[in-house]
Amino acid sequence: MRILVVDDEEIKRISLVDDLVEGGYDASAACDGEEALRRLSRERFDLVITDLRMPGIDGMEILKHVKLHTPDTEVVMMTAYGSIPLAVEAMKVGASNFITKPFHNEFLFPLLERIREHRPSPSGAVRPKKPAVTLPLEEVIVGHSTAIRDVRRMVDLCSRNDATVLVTGETGTGKDLIAHAIHDYSARRTRPFIKVNCSTFSDHLIESALFGHTKGSFTGADHQNNGKLDLAQHGTLFLDDVDDIPLVHQIKLLRVIEEKVYERVGSPDPIEADVRIIAATKHNLLAETEKGTFRSDLYYRLNVLRIDLPPLRNHIEDLPELIRHHLGKITQGQEYRMTDDAMQRLCHHSWPGNVRELAHTLERAYLTGNGMITTERMAIDPIEKSAKFGNGGFKETVQQTERDLLENALKQAHGNKSEAARILDMKLSSFRDKLAKHGLA
Ligand SMILES: Nc1ncnc2c1ncn2[C@@H]1O[C@H](COP(=O)(O)OP(=O)(O)OP(=O)(O)O)[C@@H](O)[C@H]1O
Ligand SMILES: [Mg+2]
Repeated sequence: MRILVVDDEEIKRISLVDDLVEGGYDASAACDGEEALRRLSRERFDLVITDLRMPGIDGMEILKHVKLHTPDTEVVMMTAYGSIPLAVEAMKVGASNFITKPFHNEFLFPLLERIREHRPSPSGAVRPKKPAVTLPLEEVIVGHSTAIRDVRRMVDLCSRNDATVLVTGETGTGKDLIAHAIHDYSARRTRPFIKVNCSTFSDHLIESALFGHTKGSFTGADHQNNGKLDLAQHGTLFLDDVDDIPLVHQIKLLRVIEEKVYERVGSPDPIEADVRIIAATKHNLLAETEKGTFRSDLYYRLNVLRIDLPPLRNHIEDLPELIRHHLGKITQGQEYRMTDDAMQRLCHHSWPGNVRELAHTLERAYLTGNGMITTERMAIDPIEKSAKFGNGGFKETVQQTERDLLENALKQAHGNKSEAARILDMKLSSFRDKLAKHGLA
């Protein structure tokens, strides 16, 4: 796996590259964003590990560049504890994961292995999947709240048929987990599971990425290429961030669902599609149809079976079980202890990054604390105070709403602060002050 490390801090950059090379990876470094973009335009990398904050071109810009030009290249962000909300934002833009600095290699290497396992082999074929394990669903989708029981019931139902499924939920609520579970428990479990992250393709590339293309069908198409639908034949196609498929291409997807046929770009020959489709979105698709950005006929076709994943703050009663589950995976049977204070702190956080944020917090605390999980080691942003969004006191609710407004505006403005301030009709200086207050600066 070819890795590019981007960090403006020389010592960290050199020692990370050394560790990676020692670990058997083909790693090299760029000392800033400019050098990274230069190298990315000339060479192919499987993975970019980049610092989020750097003077000049920062990690977010590198991520956007990669996702636009070489969407198959994975990106992992390195970030300080204070910038976790920004790292969560980066994941929404397409980063595979983030690691908080300082980190231990015991944390980084398993992450790299997970990325390697999920990457297609150089020939374009997906690595053979390990045989599906038949764990009880309760051990895969953890929690005994009514909401999570309902989710499990729906996954069980979905796995017994081939209908199209729509999975909705905020970042980190388990959309990928659910899509995999439906496939792993279905009759298609030994066939391919192909994920398409629709947000990472530019408008003109997504059609060929999904449906494939024939030689000469557009400038640069010098050979026939299989699309994700070809790869997913007899298996499951997981369309993540489905609302990012441009309107013009949505009709072709609708046809796959309705008529079970598609054509490669540049070819009139219909191909039969024996593919089960699972789509996921973080947004309200119905609202998108009302705005005219998503076809309503496609929405109704996708929405045959629907699983709405609750944010963690709305099933906080599952926290102890989720903590046990994730610590079990992280520690792999090694002993650990958690102080009462730490448990209290976990219960009083609002978890904007949901279960993923919980798993990262536990992993960080365990690895840096030698098996002792303490409040200090978890390093949760101290601003997060209310356990249940909207159920806290007046002050907490106002704080949370303000934070949500700031985050949403930043998201809409793709991280551009002046634009976000304009959306909120605020002076840039006041907007910056508010960001700093919420630890989002
Ligand atoms: N109910 C659950 N039980 C066990 N683990 C869970 C549960 N929900 C989420 N997770 C874990 O949380 C992490 C994030 O889940 P996942 O990647 O599926 O989220 P997502 O909704 O796809 O996020 P994104 O929108 O950012 O892609 C994973 O490690 C997943 O295993
Ligand atoms: Mg996901």
